[in-house]
Amino acid sequence: MPKKCLFIIHVLIICQICPPSFARLKIGVGRADCTGPAAEVTFMGYAKSSQKGCGIHLRQFSRAFIFDDGTKRAAFVSVDTGMMAHSVRKAVLFRLNKMYNSTYTESNLILSGTHTHSAPGGYLMEFMYDLPCLGFVKETFDALVEGITTSIERAHRSMVDGKALLSYGEVLGANINRSPTAYLLNPEEEREQYPHNVDKDLIQLKLLKSDDTLLGAINWFSVHPTSMNFSNCLITSDNVGYASVLLEKSHNKDAPIGQGRFVGAFASTNLGDVSPNVRGPRCIDTDEICSLMSSTCRGEAKYCVAAGPGVDMFDSTRIIAEKLFEEARRLLDSPDGHPISPPINYIHRFVDMPSQNATIQHPNGTTQQVHGCLPAMGYSFAAGTTDGVGEFGFSQGARHGSSQWNTLRDFLFQPTQEDIDCQYPKPILINSGRISTPYEWQPRIVSTQLIQLGDLFLVAVPGEFTTMSGRRLRRTIRDTAINNGVSGAKVVITGLSNIYTSYIATPEEYQMQRYEGASTIFGPYTLTLYRKVYKEMVEAMLTGENVDPGPQPPDLSTQVISLVPPVMLDTSGFLKQFGDCLVQPLPVVKRGMTVFALFISGHPRNNLMHDRTFLTVEKRVEARKWKVVATDADWETKFIWRRDSTLSGGSKVTVEWTVPLNAAPGKYRLRHFGYYKSLFGGTFPYSGTSKSFEVME
Ligand SMILES: *[C@@H]1O[C@H](CO)[C@@H](O)[C@H](O)[C@H]1NC(C)=O
Ligand SMILES: *[C@@H]1O[C@H](CO)[C@@H](O)[C@H](O)[C@H]1NC(C)=O
Ligand SMILES: *[C@@H]1O[C@H](CO)[C@@H](O)[C@H](O)[C@H]1NC(C)=O
Ligand SMILES: *[C@@H]1O[C@H](CO)[C@@H](O)[C@H](O)[C@H]1NC(C)=O
Repeated sequence: MPKKCLFIIHVLIICQICPPSFARLKIGVGRADCTGPAAEVTFMGYAKSSQKGCGIHLRQFSRAFIFDDGTKRAAFVSVDTGMMAHSVRKAVLFRLNKMYNSTYTESNLILSGTHTHSAPGGYLMEFMYDLPCLGFVKETFDALVEGITTSIERAHRSMVDGKALLSYGEVLGANINRSPTAYLLNPEEEREQYPHNVDKDLIQLKLLKSDDTLLGAINWFSVHPTSMNFSNCLITSDNVGYASVLLEKSHNKDAPIGQGRFVGAFASTNLGDVSPNVRGPRCIDTDEICSLMSSTCRGEAKYCVAAGPGVDMFDSTRIIAEKLFEEARRLLDSPDGHPISPPINYIHRFVDMPSQNATIQHPNGTTQQVHGCLPAMGYSFAAGTTDGVGEFGFSQGARHGSSQWNTLRDFLFQPTQEDIDCQYPKPILINSGRISTPYEWQPRIVSTQLIQLGDLFLVAVPGEFTTMSGRRLRRTIRDTAINNGVSGAKVVITGLSNIYTSYIATPEEYQMQRYEGASTIFGPYTLTLYRKVYKEMVEAMLTGENVDPGPQPPDLSTQVISLVPPVMLDTSGFLKQFGDCLVQPLPVVKRGMTVFALFISGHPRNNLMHDRTFLTVEKRVEARKWKVVATDADWETKFIWRRDSTLSGGSKVTVEWTVPLNAAPGKYRLRHFGYYKSLFGGTFPYSGTSKSFEVME
């Protein structure tokens, strides 16, 4: 054979063995509705029993992304919910295992909550976390399990040859540190390495088919979804959720929100001390700056509230969302990015935190043995934050308890001297680790997990790492990965994943006992212990060692208490029917105005209307033909429910629509869909339609 041919064959063989490295990935994306019960269930986040649902502004979605290199598969799911719960992940895996055997396991599936504070709670099972919701709420739990499972199923069925590109952007003016005084306790030479006291990067993993059509994107940006404050009673995915809606809308032309091929997530990361309320904390009555250490005005926390940048909370949500969306879109449109290539790898371990030990090297050369504590919350936990203050007059930065509250605490769960010493300087308010009545209050066994996609490491953490805690953990993992042969390792923290254990502040920040330090439940060295655990995991994963899977967290599902009453019955009233329109929209409206209609309704908990809607805005396109232009998942609509009186069983809904500035002029109408519960059992669908109205320019 001539030399030239041999050469060509040689090249062909090489190309077979090593095609462009990212061409070997298979990728799947999927999205599903996981909206919880839209009325009368307390939201999770601000711990306010009074913040109960009254309708929907934006729906909750679960967004799933699956990666497969032909040998191993890993999945990441971002869910519009307060945080992920062990119970939910277990139930999702149980369902997936029935369909796909052991394709998805605790080891290769990360479920991460976006941390919206405006979605129904009651699904965590640990007693303390479900307490504001009056215990376990099966409807919320089932909605999440079903939505998450469906999103993974859809991603599973959509696997195609694809590629992934990692890129970094920056968003300014969208986040501030809400405990800047605690941040300042971190060593100066460490702080000097960073330009800001919060992370401003927007990290994007862009997913494409091998022919370069876009499949989806995962974006990580460090911010609390607390643009909506605790006066809000409409379900919403908040700033990051609306950023997802905007990104998906811009790529799924004409598809209703929550449908369409492109899936775009804005997932949580180390957002522990990061607020979106960028005007900062102010005394609400005098507009002065609050006291920095305690976040109080004249000694009271309730007057010190952060807000902004908009004129109200909806406007603030929109502004932050648009900033995130614009930067994500810029990165998506750019051809640049770091290609992600195989191998895919993963590791998971359950860790009993109170029994962990570590050795600290002090700069003066001495070493110190440290260990974990049983879970406990400090006094400043009860103070809440400037994004949402607590009750009973607590304030942040409390390093001493009060005898009154200590007496009550000791009656419930007296801390031992060992507990007090271990948590020092945290004054213990809730000694959750010493009480098991009626069942576990806060977890002591956590889930720690890593997914490796080539030189990218996704680190699933069971809580809210503060800015500096996240930076330290990333550095530990990056250094360990580089030492084990992954040059250029990149690390992303995926926040509020798998199990929830409140906050993780640095040992220095812990000393000030602001909200984040007071909510660092395993004591001052929580972060130190996590860094050790994750370092061991990176080493084990990269060297192919087996790790002990660790102790299983307790199964609380048979013990949970549930006090949220079920829907008893709906009544439509004398000579009236469900769906009757009691208040018609104005006959003529201009763009930018808000129209509404009022309908007799059933209880929204009768049917959560997943992948459907409680309302439509419809435009007449020809005689008798109407086209849906908006649903209850759109930003421009609000679905607002209220009971007539607690006894009557009657209720009404308002369907509200703010006419977009680019709406086509013409005839429109508002509709409402729902289910009512009959006295004789069973739920039945109904619908109602308003008169039509004219939209003018
Ligand atoms: C399911 O997985 C187990 C272990 O991985 C294997 O032994 C079994 O054959 C699988 N079952 C099916 C139906 O694929
Ligand atoms: C929430 O925001 C609204 C503005 O949208 C404001 O009027 C209200 O006082 C805020 N409530 C709290 C508790 O911060
Ligand atoms: C930590 O140290 C204590 C006391 O020395 C020991 O009982 C415990 O087993 C250690 N924990 C681990 C995880 O090694
Ligand atoms: C070394 O530094 C640590 C932490 O700052 C301190 O607790 C310890 O007393 C120091 N030891 C000596 C011998 O100076």
